[in-house]
Amino acid sequence: MDLFDVYPLYDITPVKGEGSYVYDKDGNKYLDLYGGHAVISIGHSHPAYVNALTKQLREIGFYSNSVKNPLQQELASKLEKVSGINDYSLFLCNSGAEANENALKLASFHTGKDRVIYFEKAFHGRTSGVVAVTDNEAIKSPFNTGHKATKVGFGDAEALEEELKKDDVAAVIFEVVQGVGGLDEGTTEFYLKAAELCKSHNTILIADEVQAGYGRTGDFFAFQKHGIRPDIISIAKGMGNGFPVGGILIDNAIEPKYGMLGTTFGGNHLACAAGIAVLEIIEKEKLIENSKSLFEYVKERAEEIPQIKNLKGRGLMIGLEFDFEVAELRKDLLFRHQIFTGAASNKKLLRILPPLNIKKEQFDTFFKALKIALKNYS
Ligand SMILES: Cc1ncc(COP(=O)(O)O)c(C=O)c1O
Repeated sequence: MDLFDVYPLYDITPVKGEGSYVYDKDGNKYLDLYGGHAVISIGHSHPAYVNALTKQLREIGFYSNSVKNPLQQELASKLEKVSGINDYSLFLCNSGAEANENALKLASFHTGKDRVIYFEKAFHGRTSGVVAVTDNEAIKSPFNTGHKATKVGFGDAEALEEELKKDDVAAVIFEVVQGVGGLDEGTTEFYLKAAELCKSHNTILIADEVQAGYGRTGDFFAFQKHGIRPDIISIAKGMGNGFPVGGILIDNAIEPKYGMLGTTFGGNHLACAAGIAVLEIIEKEKLIENSKSLFEYVKERAEEIPQIKNLKGRGLMIGLEFDFEVAELRKDLLFRHQIFTGAASNKKLLRILPPLNIKKEQFDTFFKALKIALKNYS
């Protein structure tokens, strides 16, 4: 049987990962500045993570949500402690799209309304409801376009207010720092206004922290910089360091009801063990601090390179903007210098999303390679 051919693949077969490096089947070593779409938070095959998962698998890997699983509570408590946010409850699922899908459904249940506002260049996933609130018509099927979803300019508080005034909006969903869209971030003023408008119109504010959360921006959650309190926060990518785990944090003012949300796999024992290990390592190894301080270093190094026209993002969610399209440059970096980087919907942006325990020296390797590769573009 063939695989359904939906991914354009690089001809590379990784067989081993260690920290910020992956190794292919021929023994080539690659510096991973992309973490497989921002997923690798604590580094590939971190020994404490591997031990925790192995130990858990020897005990019990899975049982469904029809029995007690104390690991879920342990994960929730740890998440509260490491993130510093209080008075939320946790619902566990398996991916970013699923987290957002649950967030939208819950907002609609809670408010009794059915329309959702999303922003220009947003990416919230590929399943039915969340692809409807993603700003990419090419990935929406006719089935997906049946949802009541309205796009508003990112940062346009007036347009947002006009829509919310219609009083049929269940949720406003947004990425504090846009990932796929190209690292744009709204102002604190805009986020405060959006939060205030949602409150006064009985609309749920959903922060999609699937990519930006878990310390990637130098704060545990990207929204924390702006002093807002979203009603629902969706999480995934860095949460399991590659093990598929997602979730939503729900303000305690939103009441649960049996059957409202549910999943077979979400919150299973192995997933929780992965989630707990990740949080312990983030805390113990001070990875949020590392993320914040390394951005300053990257900024200094980026300033030495005249072809970089703009440095976007914060922490270890970084965009280097050039005045040419970067597809070929990315290929050069990968095949000539063995460095993985990422793309964005802005074709001139190189996205850097490394493991959060990456070191300065690894960025030195990258900048050295970048300078050599850029000789072909000036
Ligand atoms: C901000 C954001 N939300 C949601 C998703 C969807 O997550 P998943 O691919 O795990 O469904 C992504 C994936 O790139 C994302 O970047």
